[in-house]
Amino acid sequence: MEKLTIQQCDQIYKQVGTPCFLINEDLFIENIQRIKCAFQKEYSDTIISYSFKTNYIPYICNLAKNNGCKAEVVSYLEYQIAKQVGFAPEDIIMNSPLKRYEEFETAILEGALVNIDSFYELAHLDLIRKNHPDKELKVGIRVNVPIVDENGVSAIYGEEKVGRFGFVDDEIPDVVRRLRELNCKIICIHGHTSSKNRAIFNYIQICRRLIDVAEKYSLKPKYLDLGGGFFGPVPQGMFTDRHVPTYEEYATEIFKYLNKDEWFKTNKPSIIIEPGMSVAASSMSYIARVHDIKHRVDRRIAQTDGTMFHVRQNMADFKLPFNIVTQEKTLLEQEETVHFAGASCMESDLIRRCTTKQKVDVGDYIVIDNVGAYTFVMASSFIQYLPYIAVINDNGIKKLRQSRDFDNFIEVFSL
Ligand SMILES: Cc1ncc(COP(=O)(O)O)c(C=O)c1O
Repeated sequence: MEKLTIQQCDQIYKQVGTPCFLINEDLFIENIQRIKCAFQKEYSDTIISYSFKTNYIPYICNLAKNNGCKAEVVSYLEYQIAKQVGFAPEDIIMNSPLKRYEEFETAILEGALVNIDSFYELAHLDLIRKNHPDKELKVGIRVNVPIVDENGVSAIYGEEKVGRFGFVDDEIPDVVRRLRELNCKIICIHGHTSSKNRAIFNYIQICRRLIDVAEKYSLKPKYLDLGGGFFGPVPQGMFTDRHVPTYEEYATEIFKYLNKDEWFKTNKPSIIIEPGMSVAASSMSYIARVHDIKHRVDRRIAQTDGTMFHVRQNMADFKLPFNIVTQEKTLLEQEETVHFAGASCMESDLIRRCTTKQKVDVGDYIVIDNVGAYTFVMASSFIQYLPYIAVINDNGIKKLRQSRDFDNFIEVFSL
């Protein structure tokens, strides 16, 4: 993202308020279009289903819809957001680990693609079948994929050998049998598996597993769903220990593999991908304003109106990409240590520590980049209100969410 100027930061402060999450509309659209082109160039029947949990700001979800995506949701809350934004239920893929009966029934009867993940969902289907004996029922099944890295070590996020999602081998025969008894069509095989390495090899293993299941149980799914977990554009220097594949590299390698497979060539299912982080992360920044300066021994403390609980909830000292935007442009002769402190009362609440020649003062800003994925949805109202949200596009800056609204805040509590 191009660096924000002091004029833009001041405009956000006056017109919207700080702290503020700022969506860069062009960047989000560019990421969606680029991943779509990369995959559809290799295989035109690829469906891009935007992962809502990564960032469900309705404005973002609407951009995803207007740019040809389907919606991938993992809770009923997200299902409701998707419908509110205007996704037709048949354009929604539901992968929630927890599907309460009413939620499950609504999604199934409305025509969403529900990928089942556990046996209690078969009991739900049983009840739906009893209540709707003539209804055509269709579901997807999520299968467990034990991905490994090139050394044979589990690549699953959390490093367990077998992840917790999806049916494992000895469960699948029972699932297929029961679905057949219920006259329920299996239209999708889903294999999202979160990894830390986001490696191309993971997708080759996912493809292999999905096809093996289809072949073994003579399934003819309309869709193979490879899930999300790709890399997108990452700030320079963020990952020095691994290769960060481009969208194009993922697509080329996945389809090089699939196009050699007889089952794939014969059945030609639609391929679904569910990108989240890879399209959303780079499209948002967080802006906090400096309200006070204190001097403590060898450091300058810039007291901001933001808090680390908005941008690094796990408290890890992760090197968030950042910019300091100052009113004063002349640089100091020597670097100073500056701690951008948060507005909570926690000693550890530092948004960012750095050394800089910029002379940080009241009225300046710290801008944290790359916070479009997970950060916003995990931000809490610990001690402070949730931040404002705004979007920047060719028409200027527009506020999307109010903050510091006590009536709205207190409404959900009972005295
Ligand atoms: C089922 C499913 N699909 C897609 C995603 C999106 O993954 P990412 O944000 O890493 O692209 C997730 C995230 O874990 C997921 O659980």
